Amino acid sequence: MINGKTQVAIIGAGPSGLLLGQLLARQGIDNVILERVTGDYVLGRIRAGVLEQGFVELVREAGVAERMDREGEIHEGFEIAVDGELHRIDMKGLTGGDTVVVYGQTEITLDLMQARAAAGLETVYEAAEVTPHEVRGERPYITYQHGGEQYRLECDYIAGCDGFYGVSRQTIPAEARREFIRVYPFGWLGLLADTPPVHKELIYCKHQRGFALASMRSQTRSRYYLQVPLEDKVEDWSDDAFWEELKLRLPQAAVAGLVTGPSIEKSIAPLRSFVCEPLQYGRLFLVGDAGHIVPPTGAKGLNLAASDVAALYQIMVKVYREGRTDAIEQYSPIALRRVWHGERFSWWMTNMLHRFDKLTDDPQADATFDKFMVSELDYYLGSENGRRVIAEQYVGLPYETVK
Ligand code: APR
Ligand code: PHB
Repeated sequence: MINGKTQVAIIGAGPSGLLLGQLLARQGIDNVILERVTGDYVLGRIRAGVLEQGFVELVREAGVAERMDREGEIHEGFEIAVDGELHRIDMKGLTGGDTVVVYGQTEITLDLMQARAAAGLETVYEAAEVTPHEVRGERPYITYQHGGEQYRLECDYIAGCDGFYGVSRQTIPAEARREFIRVYPFGWLGLLADTPPVHKELIYCKHQRGFALASMRSQTRSRYYLQVPLEDKVEDWSDDAFWEELKLRLPQAAVAGLVTGPSIEKSIAPLRSFVCEPLQYGRLFLVGDAGHIVPPTGAKGLNLAASDVAALYQIMVKVYREGRTDAIEQYSPIALRRVWHGERFSWWMTNMLHRFDKLTDDPQADATFDKFMVSELDYYLGSENGRRVIAEQYVGLPYETVK
């Protein structure tokens, strides 16, 4: 057994763990990250790329914003297409100046990884059997295996940043947590291609054939999604079939400018809403996907991870600077309030924009739900106040300050 010691042990080197680690280190708070897979594997996952202002500011505070500020694109609005007709959500105009930054999660992760390595901070990649112990006590520790050796890492606190399938949430006994879940009856098939985006802003498309999204990573790389049945497999979808279906769902005005090309990546993701309550158990905190999942409609996944990180970071600074150990009780309520707003927004956008034909076993109830959602979207898009409600949530609600 090889013994180690740190102040905050972080499980998971996704964006949550890396961002938290960087922020803490800049405040002189020692931390070690334990990650199950390799750094390359982490970078291979293609995820969303819309950053709220709060996220952008946090990355700046972490001192890792240089490339994001240079290469990220500021978006002042996005489009919602309903059966081919475009409705612009003027985020900047409707919110009094707020915008989002389009910059891939993979790029943020790479920037954070490089900054961590440059600062000489410890990350153990390929750490197996990571297991938290004594999280309710004064002296928690984590055991893990690495390179054939058994390790024990003592710490003051554990940040569970290990995603939906991680070990942290399972460490909280079932009777001490409650899980809220909604599974949607479809998935998103995503395709990444080195082609110029079809439009300068994102287009969310509600269409009879199902939802589609035209997004991007840069002026030369685009990302598209199609709503597909849950039973579909990636192998069922050739690139050609994808492009053909996309052309049917995009507004005709946009299709003329669509450049197709070979896919760099193609994958299917199921859609679900999930929240675990509480997000704190003794000295263990759940951060990001470890504690909650949203469907991608509205791009809130990464942004909710960031607001969790912001809350835990503020709390840790209070603990180590002012001895305010009482502040840790604020984590779960503060994080959850914002999480539920993001959950509700993502659920609402998902409901309004998708085609629901297998929501229940009752076709008549499904058809009625569909009609309610058509009317809901029509109402919100037809009113400036309605568009403002969408804009205000899309750019991101404010972060709460820890007392
Ligand atoms: N031990 C160590 N590491 C683990 C374990 C484990 N038992 N289980 C999972 N991990 C690692 C994963 O390999 C992954 O690298 O934890 C990391 C979790 O990263 P993400 O799943 O990316 O979660 P998070 O960092 O919270 O990022 C928030 O925003 O856009 C959304 O869902 C998207 O990943 C995104 C999320
Ligand atoms: C993406 O670019 O991958 C993306 C953008 C917006 C979303 C979801 C995904 O709502």
